[in-house]
Parts: sequence; C-alpha cells; structure tokens
Amino acid sequence: MKTEILRLLRESDSFVSGQQLCEQFQVSRTAVWKVIKQLQEEGYQIEAVRNKGYRITGSPDVMTEEELTSLLDTRWAGKHISYFDTTDSTNNQAKAMGDAGAPHGTLVVADRQDAGKGRRGRVWSTPPGGSIAMSILLRPDIEPSKAPMLTLVMAMAVAEGISQTEKLDAGIKWPNDIVLSKKKVCGILTEMSTEITCINHVVIGAGINVNLTEFPEEIAKTATSLRIEKGEVIKRSELIAAIMKRFEYRYEQFMQTEDLSLMQEDYHSILLNREKKVRILSPKEEYDGVALGINEKGELLVRRENGSVEEIFSGEVSVRGIYGYV
Ligand code: BTN
Repeated sequence: MKTEILRLLRESDSFVSGQQLCEQFQVSRTAVWKVIKQLQEEGYQIEAVRNKGYRITGSPDVMTEEELTSLLDTRWAGKHISYFDTTDSTNNQAKAMGDAGAPHGTLVVADRQDAGKGRRGRVWSTPPGGSIAMSILLRPDIEPSKAPMLTLVMAMAVAEGISQTEKLDAGIKWPNDIVLSKKKVCGILTEMSTEITCINHVVIGAGINVNLTEFPEEIAKTATSLRIEKGEVIKRSELIAAIMKRFEYRYEQFMQTEDLSLMQEDYHSILLNREKKVRILSPKEEYDGVALGINEKGELLVRRENGSVEEIFSGEVSVRGIYGYV
C-alpha cells in the first residue's frame, strides 16, 4: 500500500483526498495517515491539508524498493527489486538470486558496494550516497554466444536514460563505457551462467557515477559524474526508472532478431569511436586503425592501415582522443 500511495501522490498534480485513499485501499483514515507519516519520516515531503488531502512536494535521494517501484513504468524490467544499503557486489547478488530461481527482469540495486567488480578483474569503487550500482537478471532463450551483445543493449539504454532525464549528451565508447565530455561516467559488466548449449541466466551490472565529486587518483583524469557535468545534484531513482524503461524497449528489439540490427543505427549515432583512430591490443598483436562502426553482432569494425577491415569481438580497445590519452 505504501508504494501505491507514493505512486498515486506522484501521479497527481494536485491534492489526493484522504477519502479517496481510504476507498481505494479499503482501509481507515488512521491507516492512511500512518503510511503518510512513515513516508515523511523517510524524507518524503508531503503536505497534509484539512479538507484537501495530501500532496507530495519533494522526495529524498533513495533507491529503495518502494521508491523505485513507485516510479517504474515497465512490464517486466525491475518488476522484482532487491535494494541493499551495502552489499559486496550487485552482480554477485543477482547471480545468487538467479541460481535460486529469481525471475527474469529482477533488479538488484545498492547504495554502496564493498567488493564491486570492474572488467578484467579490476575493482569498481562504489562509495555510499553518490553512485548507482545496479544489476539486472535476465533469462534469455538464446545461444550463449549471443549473450555478449546484451552488454551493448545495456550501454544503449544507459546512454539513452541519461540523455533523456538529464539532458546531457551521453556517448558510448565501444563496447560498454558511457562517456560525457570525453570522460567515463558508467561502466558495464556482464556475467553469465550457462550449460553447454543454453543459458541459465545473464547478469548485466552498471555502475554509474551520479553525484560523486571526487575520484581515486588512478581514474581522476578519465572519470566524471553526472553532477559534475550537469552542475546539479541528481535523483538516482528517477534515472534508474528511465534506464529500465529504455532497457526493456531495447532488449525486446534485440530478442526480435537476436542481434543488434534494429538498434544499429541509433547505436552509431552515439558511438564516439566512429570514424576515430583506435589502437587494438589483442593477445596476438597490436595495431592501429579507424573504427567504422559495429556490425549486427555488435563487433567493432576496424579498418587497418593496409585497408583490410577487421571484426573485433573482444580484446582491449584503446581509443585515441576519447579519454585524452594517446
Ligand atoms: C567496468 O570496468 O567498466 C565495469 C564496471 C561495472 C560496475 C558495476 S557496479 C554494479 C555491478 N556490480 C559489480 O560488482 N559490478 C557492476
């Protein structure tokens, strides 16, 4: 009932009468008042005016299940939510929930991670109050070899969510960094549990620097946050809701064709590597080329200096000009 009352208050431009809430939830006025009081204690600013009812005028920067559920406008993405003040890693939590049978679309969110994981075994720092650490659990009926494309689907959704809600120009550094003003604002880590021919589940985790104003020395030159770029404090729950909405849409596009062909054009429009020089560092060799875009499998197409075009599936791609390093 608390989530529903929160949603009703949010959806209404004016006061919602106590009577309406009592009738809708079949409870007494005292029960409604208790819920309002609880919400106020959690930091929601709710005006209570005799003969008019209740009106919400402000909400705290929290990412609780109630807060997120009251904002989400999706059919399956984030319909089950687990929120942690602190956890080791939302990816670890989502994987454990996946092993225990949690449904497709389960979303795990944390304010702080004390063992957040980055790509290639790196640590991902998530101090409290300033970041989003979120992971979605998926159960796609596709071949395991197609799952890496889901990283690009999430990258697209995060970039679109940031651009829509914050009116910032978010770009993508292939395959999975979201970039603002040539600096990284979000990283994505995809993990998968498979049998030989089928997927048990996929977990896609996104770490977004939202209200951080300082970074560890090693990344200080290449990282930024939404707050730094926008010059304003940002409500994390609204951004998560926008990303989930975009993710649901993009995931369904992906599942129609089991590739990225339906979003390839949109991906290209925000792909920062396009027509840029890239250095490919693979276990085999290291070479320079120009990134042309992605193919429908999400591989980066790179024209080498000898004119041949490579399809890069994995490997370290360092991009000249994007992070200011050569
Ligand atoms: C990268 O190295 O760029 C990927 C970073 C991914 C971090 C996110 S935060 C939420 C989720 N949980 C983790 O432990 N990692 C991912």
